Amino acid sequence: MPTDRRTILVTSALPYANGSIHLGHMLEYIQTDIWVRYQKQSGNLCVYVCADDAHGTAIMLRAQTLGITPEELIADVKAEHEADFSGFHIGFDHYSSTHTDANRYYSELIYSRVRDAGGIAVRTISQLFDPEKELFLADRYVKGVCPKCGVDDQYGDNCEACGATYQASELKNPKSTLSGETPVLKDSQHLFFELGQHTDFLKEWTRSGRLQPEVANKLAEWIDGGLKSWDISRDAPYFGFEVPDHPGTYFYVWLDAPIGYMGAFKEWCDAHDFDFDSVWSPESDAEVYHFIGKDIVNFHCLFWPAMLHQANFRTPTGVNVHGFVTVDGRKMSKSRGTFIKARTYLDHLDPEYLRYYFATKLSARVEDIDLSLEDFVQKVNSDLVGKLVNIASRTAGFISKKFDGRLSSELANPDLVEAIRAKGPDIREAFENREFSKATREIMALADDVNAWIAEVAPWQLAKNEATLPDVQPICTTAINAFRLLVLYLKPVMPMLSDKVQTFLQVDRLDYESLNHTLLDHQIEAFTPLITRIEMKDVEAMIQPEVTEIKDTTQTSTPSGIEPIEAECTIDDFAKVDLRVATIVSAEAVEGADKLLKLILDLGGEQRQVFSGIKAAYRAEDLVGRQTVMIANLAPRKMKFGLSEGMVLAAGPGGSEIYLLEPDQGANAGQRIR
Ligand code: 2FM
Ligand code: ZN
Repeated sequence: MPTDRRTILVTSALPYANGSIHLGHMLEYIQTDIWVRYQKQSGNLCVYVCADDAHGTAIMLRAQTLGITPEELIADVKAEHEADFSGFHIGFDHYSSTHTDANRYYSELIYSRVRDAGGIAVRTISQLFDPEKELFLADRYVKGVCPKCGVDDQYGDNCEACGATYQASELKNPKSTLSGETPVLKDSQHLFFELGQHTDFLKEWTRSGRLQPEVANKLAEWIDGGLKSWDISRDAPYFGFEVPDHPGTYFYVWLDAPIGYMGAFKEWCDAHDFDFDSVWSPESDAEVYHFIGKDIVNFHCLFWPAMLHQANFRTPTGVNVHGFVTVDGRKMSKSRGTFIKARTYLDHLDPEYLRYYFATKLSARVEDIDLSLEDFVQKVNSDLVGKLVNIASRTAGFISKKFDGRLSSELANPDLVEAIRAKGPDIREAFENREFSKATREIMALADDVNAWIAEVAPWQLAKNEATLPDVQPICTTAINAFRLLVLYLKPVMPMLSDKVQTFLQVDRLDYESLNHTLLDHQIEAFTPLITRIEMKDVEAMIQPEVTEIKDTTQTSTPSGIEPIEAECTIDDFAKVDLRVATIVSAEAVEGADKLLKLILDLGGEQRQVFSGIKAAYRAEDLVGRQTVMIANLAPRKMKFGLSEGMVLAAGPGGSEIYLLEPDQGANAGQRIR
């Protein structure tokens, strides 16, 4: 082993224990797993832990609905998650849960150290309380009339219609979504982590090279805007850990979730007789990396390092943030069938196709990754089948049939094999820096070189002639050695392919220590197909739109089940609504509004600004240039973010299920719709 062997602890975000793993989640586990496998292949001690995120109101309520205990629910879901992860060859060294003794121990320890250092404030707050369920209501469990624009059916934190943000207690006519009852205001004591105390520490920490620049910039905006105290407690009933010195109060799920990284690691340490503190003490020279999605940056890059610091633990070496997965350029959608569960994928396709495809798209940047289904099929077939495996399938047969499965004692083209080896440092650097797309590009460029050389020397021609047949063995031996190196490079991405190749080549390792080996005078197995082409029909079979029932809110739905039709209007009523074809000339997210996009619409000369609640359904950049339909004579509305001068038309129940209307080709911006 090299003397500079690194010790590295790696985590992926802990999935909630009340839902299935889907391909959006899998991006992160695949990204992390590739990085971990690369570290192991390089001879480092790399420990990859994860766990189910088992606490919180949602899990408690789901268990109630199912008529089981939360413990039963989280055990069932954990088994499902572990089967999905193993299906995708995610090689956790340990997979735990946040509902463990180890996690309770570290949650209490961190809390008490932070409290003793003066980092916790106790304050009485007033929250909406469901008198029937006897439960304080989180914002997502309250709906009512928006206090700003008066639109009904809005959640307790912000309004989908006008983008306003407010306190749940400001909603008019609030109702609990759990019981339908009108909630009442009730006081209770809460514990707050005083994040503001750590402003200077966080300013320094977030700029210390541990984060991607775009993440550090976003955090700087938040830090400069002033860091608010963080409510780390929840009232009973709650499924979680009770706060030791506040009976009836529980740690908020997000307090003990990241501590779950430590809890899981402690269990691994106990099973492997490893010293936990050698990684987590402030003096440790081990490395700790968290892989997370862009939606949970605040928890991992503000609260988490600040608490660790105050509790006298080390902080992460790096937090690696990735973007979201889109399918064919759009957010994953149940009704389009593109909200693909891990299990559904596994029922239809080889997991290594997706591992490879995601690898070809992943870089160290926080970009969304598009799973374009046609590109997916094309890339897997062309790169893996057409380029990589093709090298072996065109040459191995000659070794078996003509040379008894024996490689020659010298290479026909040692320079080719050396050139592949010489790319090792570049490829390794790309893996180390999470530039997997660069790594796979370089590997495939090398595969192209090898295929070009094989085509040039054409062993199949030489094999036809007794005189030239002896040349075939060193040619195919060269190709097989090139193939071995390419598979070695690709091993972190495709561990199963690499296992099969080890068997085929009769080698017991494909790690970097074996990079300089050349297989000469060596027996190999007969070639069997290592990977098969993807058929588009298999992908299509996986995409099965979920038929969503339209919610019958009024008890008066029509026999066909569609939403009830509005009261009759006259043609004159309709003529009052001026509908126009509009071209979307720009679209952008609105700072501070989760659901809105700001659209600039061109009406054939005149431009309008419209705020539209379609952010969950569309990526802003995909809308630019599209045509849609707008109400052009709607009275302008002053919103928190600016004036909205009209409205675009869309179908669907809301959220990510929104479908913008689009005129047929040939319509021009500004044309009236009648
Ligand atoms: O966002 C989520 O899915 C959380 N369950 C992630 C938790 S990550 C860590 F902090 F535990
Ligand atoms: Zn509103």
